[in-house]
Amino acid sequence: MSKGVIIYRSKYGAAKIYAEWLSEMTGFECVDIKKSDPNQVFQSEIIILCGGVYASGIAGISFLKKNAGRLKGKKTAVFAVGASPYDEKAMEEIKNHNLKGELSEIPVFYGRGAWDEKRMTLPDRTMCRMLQKSVAKKDPDTYEPWMKALMCAVGQSCDWTDREYLTPLLEYLDRVS
Ligand SMILES: Cc1cc2nc3c(=O)[nH]c(=O)nc-3n(C[C@H](O)[C@H](O)[C@H](O)COP(=O)(O)O)c2cc1C
Repeated sequence: MSKGVIIYRSKYGAAKIYAEWLSEMTGFECVDIKKSDPNQVFQSEIIILCGGVYASGIAGISFLKKNAGRLKGKKTAVFAVGASPYDEKAMEEIKNHNLKGELSEIPVFYGRGAWDEKRMTLPDRTMCRMLQKSVAKKDPDTYEPWMKALMCAVGQSCDWTDREYLTPLLEYLDRVS
């Protein structure tokens, strides 16, 4: 049994990249949530979820919610991967939206992922284009950081993944292990 495990949920690959980097850096095994066996996951003392952010929801959170009772006494952390640049207020909103009740004490870390409209599924691309159209009607001076990022990314292929984003999470793991 390994001391820690990294579980990930990634639609377009960025959260998986962070999970693999983290696995290299910590020696913890990393597994796709869809293929994971909860009984094995909860044998570890440290559980880290890496999940992409879609419409403010962190992918994979439902796994933690479903198994909240089994997280007692474990050291758990979430690493959310989104397209927006880091912004404290936006992070707080994402945390409050995703980690309620029994999960509210879990620390959330953040790294920027990737954006490639060509690779998106049709429903995802349609949703992103609708969002871009509605943001385009606003005054650019009033854009929130995520709106700026969304508008910069129109029609682009962007990859912001960077190992540096893992530093705060690694520091946290050093403190708790
Ligand atoms: C339908 C959709 C909704 C998204 N919503 C958000 C969002 O609310 N906030 C954000 O920062 N990024 C958002 N993104 C960007 C993704 O978080 C980004 O592409 C990330 O790399 C996804 O993780 P993955 O590559 O592991 O799938 C969205 C992307 C898609 C396709």
